[in-house]
Amino acid sequence: MPKPKVFVTRAIRDKGLDLVREFCDAEVWPGDLPPTRQELLEKVRGVDGLLCMLTDRVDAEVLDAAGPGLKVVSTYAVGFDNIDVDAATARRIAVGNTPGVLTEATADFAFALLMAAARRVTEAERYLRAGKWQTWQPSGLLGLDFFGATLGLVGFGRIGQAVARRASGFGMRVIYFSPTTPHNPSLNATPVESLDALLAQSDFVSLHTPLTPQTRRMVNADFLSKMKPNAVLVNTARGGVLDQDALYDALKNNRIFAAALDVTDPEPLPLDSPLLTLENCLIVPHIGSASHKTRDDMAVLAAENLVAGLKGEQLPHCINPQVYAG
Ligand code: DGY
Repeated sequence: MPKPKVFVTRAIRDKGLDLVREFCDAEVWPGDLPPTRQELLEKVRGVDGLLCMLTDRVDAEVLDAAGPGLKVVSTYAVGFDNIDVDAATARRIAVGNTPGVLTEATADFAFALLMAAARRVTEAERYLRAGKWQTWQPSGLLGLDFFGATLGLVGFGRIGQAVARRASGFGMRVIYFSPTTPHNPSLNATPVESLDALLAQSDFVSLHTPLTPQTRRMVNADFLSKMKPNAVLVNTARGGVLDQDALYDALKNNRIFAAALDVTDPEPLPLDSPLLTLENCLIVPHIGSASHKTRDDMAVLAAENLVAGLKGEQLPHCINPQVYAG
């Protein structure tokens, strides 16, 4: 019996790749950069399964290029805004993602960004490397305090809740806006009735929503104008949630204190982005989940989703369980 054919769009960690290879006849894209659109369309032809990254747009065209044998798309990410899930469901293709295993690493990183932006860590390091450090200064490079400050979480799923736990340890008050999350009193976080109420009260605002048509460019000039004048914005969710031009204006005119972005739109952020000219904007290249253990765990889960789909079993983490109905 020949093994099922799969295309893996980048070399994931060995722990996952070994599992894929044990069960499948796998072609793994060898480049550090993703396959181009044309290359993706060619490589998926005739496959039974696709293991993709968040950098691959998997839409109806890709699903059709694969052909009727395609049973499963497994993404090496928790976010799946790059996949047309409706198109997959219509073709009865199961789609899997990797929730849970990256929660703590991403929450750690959101908190690291929050602290770095508030205490001006990257700006201070640039200052030192530029040879500007002449002496200890009574009022140099002053930042913001965490103890007693209010952290507002937009979205309160797994990662938002993990950030809330960290904030409690720093003596912060935590509020959140997430109409769909039932209140859990054990979490030491208070729900607020509206986004406006959250923005009016928060010294720090951290975004933890998926990118959907409803959340696209949610952080716009109006949103930013409702933040406290000394507030810090952190985005570890998706770049598309934010209007970068509006953020530039707000930061440039010191309408908020600082922003820290792990994600941008587009990715990579072009080097001529005006955001890169600002001292009060910290930007890193989408590394929220980039720890050794977390990426190993994501690789294993992505592989398990793929293999389950190929065996005709329910995926351990399936985004579109409707494919199993009927
Ligand atoms: C995800 O899994 O969606 C993350 O953005 C990867 O870091």
